[in-house]
Amino acid sequence: MKLQFILNGKSRELEVNPAKRLLDVLREDLGLTGTKEGCGEGECGSCTVFLDDKPVLSCLTTASHINGRKVTTIEGLAEDGELDGLQTAFVEETAVQCGFCTPGMIMSSKALLMNNPNPSEDEIRAALAGNICRCSGYSQIIRAVQRAAGERSGHLHE
Ligand code: FES
Ligand code: FES
Repeated sequence: MKLQFILNGKSRELEVNPAKRLLDVLREDLGLTGTKEGCGEGECGSCTVFLDDKPVLSCLTTASHINGRKVTTIEGLAEDGELDGLQTAFVEETAVQCGFCTPGMIMSSKALLMNNPNPSEDEIRAALAGNICRCSGYSQIIRAVQRAAGERSGHLHE
């Protein structure tokens, strides 16, 4: 099946088995290896991408779902060579340890901030409840999201 879609802002066409997992299409057919496979069963969030600006688990989404739609991956968050504020905040708050969960964490955090630019800590925890970090870097991850949201500005360099 030939799929037509927008990938990270650019029109793409791809001949692919429509039943193939979006995760595999991204990593194997499109070379976008930023999206990670953790559990492969919808439990860990490491494969999170956006479909029409809404987060989906690419391990549970088949390629047929992207036809005519907009797909955004972690590689698409930077604009004009500038990292997204969340990407910078994750680095600055040392919220990246092994980094395996990081793309999914950032995509879920981005989805939160698009809908709620100033979330509370509880709202951040709730939004990231489906994303598992095996390195237990949750406090740094929460701080990174708060930093990107601007909530902690003024408190960071005191
Ligand atoms: S790999 Fe998709 S949720 Fe874990
Ligand atoms: S940084 Fe290692 S799984 Fe989160």
